Formats: sequence, C-alpha cells, structure tokens
Amino acid sequence: MVAVDDKSLTENTASPNRTSLWGGRFAGGPAEALARLSVSVQFDWRLAPYDIAGSRAHARVLAAAGLLNPDELGRMLAALDDLEAACASGSFRPTIDDEDVHTALERGLLERLGSLGGKLRAGRSRNDQVATDLRLYLRDHARGLAVRLIELAAALVEQAERHLDTPAPGMTHVQHAQPVTFGHWLLAHVHPLLRDLDRLRDWDLRTAVSPLGAGALAGSGLPLDPGVVAKELGFETSFANSMDAVADRDYAAEFLFVTALIGVHLSRLGEEVVLWTSQEFGWVELDDAFATGSSIMPQKKNADIAELARGKSGRLVGGLVAVLTMLKGLPLTYDRDMQEDKEPAFDAVDTLALLLPALAGMISTMTVRVDRLAAAAPVGFTLATEVADWLVLKGVPFRDAHEITGKLVALCAARECALDEVSDDDLRLVSEHLDGGVRQVLSVRSALAARTTPGSTGPGPVADQLVSVTEQLAGWREWAAESVVPR
Ligand code: ARG
Repeated sequence: MVAVDDKSLTENTASPNRTSLWGGRFAGGPAEALARLSVSVQFDWRLAPYDIAGSRAHARVLAAAGLLNPDELGRMLAALDDLEAACASGSFRPTIDDEDVHTALERGLLERLGSLGGKLRAGRSRNDQVATDLRLYLRDHARGLAVRLIELAAALVEQAERHLDTPAPGMTHVQHAQPVTFGHWLLAHVHPLLRDLDRLRDWDLRTAVSPLGAGALAGSGLPLDPGVVAKELGFETSFANSMDAVADRDYAAEFLFVTALIGVHLSRLGEEVVLWTSQEFGWVELDDAFATGSSIMPQKKNADIAELARGKSGRLVGGLVAVLTMLKGLPLTYDRDMQEDKEPAFDAVDTLALLLPALAGMISTMTVRVDRLAAAAPVGFTLATEVADWLVLKGVPFRDAHEITGKLVALCAARECALDEVSDDDLRLVSEHLDGGVRQVLSVRSALAARTTPGSTGPGPVADQLVSVTEQLAGWREWAAESVVPR
C-alpha cells in the first residue's frame, strides 16, 4: 500500500469527470470549502485493501442472488484483483476529487469495467462499508500490535531471567520499602502487558461481527445473505440489527481504550527507566544504540525512548477521549461525525508500531548494575519488616512488634548505623523481646529467601513465575500469528 497525505493528492487526469457517489439530486458540485472539510481519503486510503476484500465478498453474494451473471462476476473479480495490485504498487492513487476511499475505489473500478462497475453498489452503502473496513483493519492490526507487545514482554522476561536473584530496594511512594529481586520487578511490567494481550483478544471476539449487508441502515431488499459475506471476510458472524451495525463505533472506542491503557503501562515502564538511568540511581546503563546525546553537553546520555514512551501515552489517551466525545449523544444511525473515528485509531496503531520495537530494543540491550542494586537494597532500613515478623513469630502481637521495630529504627537513624549493628545490650534496652537472634533475619538474602509463597519476590517463586510467563507468551505468539482477514 502506498501511503497518501494531503500534499500528495493530485488532480484526477485519468477520468476528468469527477466520480461522486451522490451527485444525482444536486444542481452543481460541492463548494470548495465543503469538499475540503469532508474529504477523508488522505487518511482513510489505508482502508483500501479491506474495502476491496469487502467488494469481492459483496460481488459473490450479488452473483449468488442472480444480480451478476457468471461472466460479470469473473470480470468484476479480475478488475478488483487488478485494482488491488494497482493500489499496492501505487499506480492507482486517490486524487483530490475523491471524497473518500470508497469513492476512489469506485472510480478505479469504473475505469476498468465501465458501467458494469456500477453494479457493485447494489445493496451496499458506504455506511456498512466503512464500518466493515474499520473492523477488518483493526482486527488485522491488533495481531501486529500483539506481536510487538510480545517482543517487549520477551525482552523484559529475558532480563528478568538474568536477575532472578539480584536484590533491589522495592519501593512504595518512591521510598525504599522492602528488598525485592530485580527479576520480580521486571516481571511486574510483563503482567500488565499479558493482560493487554488478553484485552485485545477479548476485544477481537466482540469485533468479529460483520456489518456488511446492513446497507445505509435498514438492511437490503435484495436477497443478499450477510452471513455468507461475514464468513468470507473472516468474521465470526454478521450483524443482528442493521441500525446498530452502522451506528455504533464501540469497537473503535474499545480498541482505543486498550491502546490507551497499553500507553499508560509503557509510560510507567518508561518513567522507571528514566529514574534507573539517572546519576542518582545508576542501576541501569543503556546501550549506546538506544540512547541519545546532547548537542551542547558532550557527556550526556539520555533515555529518550523511555521519555517518548511516557510522552506518547498522552496522544493514546487523547485518541480514546476524542472518539468517546465524538460518539456521545449522537442520534442513530450514521452521522458524519463518525468519520472522526479513524484518525485516532490509525494514530494509535502507528504510535505503538514505532514505540514498542524501540522499547524492546532498549530493554534487551540495557546493562543492569547488579553491584549498585545490591548495595541499595538494604538502604533505608528495608529490613525493618523482617524484625517485626521475627517478633511476631515469637508471639509478640504485630501492633507491638511494629512499635518496637520503629524504636529500633529511630535508634539506628540517630546513630547512623544499620539494624544489625546494634549490640545485644542495646537491643534489650529497646525491648525485652529483642535479642541477638534477630540478626539472623537481618540480611537481604535471608529476607528474599524467606519469600517462598506463590507470587512473592523470592528467587524460587520468581523462577516459577518465569516458567508460567514464558508459556503464556508462547500461546500469545500463536494467537498473533492467526490471520483473520482474507487476502
Ligand atoms: N468517509 C465516510 C466515513 O468515514 C464514509 C461513510 C459516508 N457515509 C455517508 N452517509 N456520508 O464516515
């Protein structure tokens, strides 16, 4: 598919008489200002392959209904094949006079078939066509998006595997909280992506419904079977209500919710990489190929990919808000407002197609500074909870254990020493329940090793998690490889 934009649209020299799908009852052509406002071909041209697939299916049901004879069907399908190839090579392109992708393709068909081309419009409207095209486009691109999500998840999994037992200071409120393994932390970014994949598949099930045959809104008086068209286009079923089929854009809004949430998930990963690569943290060093420099400060190495992940979440959320706001309060069925569904959806697809491979490359090539992470893990009394748990195991109520441990922390903070540096006598002074035995639990290693329950941060459960996540990713790879749209 050769892309087009505002500037690449040219005069229609091939067929000088403007092709319009609705001129009959109008005295003159549209005002320049109207034409410029309503034209959508510069962005909906990317629907062309899907529109042609729909046209093939429609030609076959017209033939099945006796509205095209076998010879006409053969010529129609050959012309559609030829037009498809011409669109792909760029030898057929939309012009400034084509209102939208449907208009442009009808012109292409008429150029090839003469008046026979006009038979394809029977029983079909741009309203059911555009709804079909966008569903097909999004279902197809959801798979491509899934492939890229899986690549990012796999990059995180691979790093997690290297850092199964690398200690790190887990945080809440960006304050050191409790030690965790860095592998666990990295996998915490994978699970949201797995749920995003699940959301995409779930969205796909609801989107696998063909609107073709709904016509403008009332269905068709011609004997055309929408179920046959649906099967041919890879849909699970056809519409149950012709008005709903052309009126709703919930599938676009829901797709945009999923992409917005993906954007939000990526922004959180991005923000952490920005922190981790800062001088203050120094936990991660980015590969030169995935970092940028400064035009004035020769020493700089910036995490621009991570920042763009953070920044681009804004436009992904904006796309969702734009489509929801456009739909709100619209009377049934089709309204021209709905033409505004496409740019946000296309932008979401394009944005993630750029962002995800860059993030995957950045993650898989980054170097984790194990020494810095391990040194940071106990800082800020992250083992205090171990003291409280040790007291609980001795029968002290947690409420009291919390209080006692708080006093010990205050003592250490005042003396600028670590929890395990307090003498036996001083431990006794803090509480009669404390003694030197508590030092057994005062290492990051022992704190991590103690976390053996499923889903917790110890190296054992994290290894189990890795196995499960890897299996899940293999399943998602299969789903993403399914091709849903007939070529
Ligand atoms: N370009 C239009 C859109 O995207 C196609 C449908 C036009 N339908 C109509 N009744 N004007 O919404």
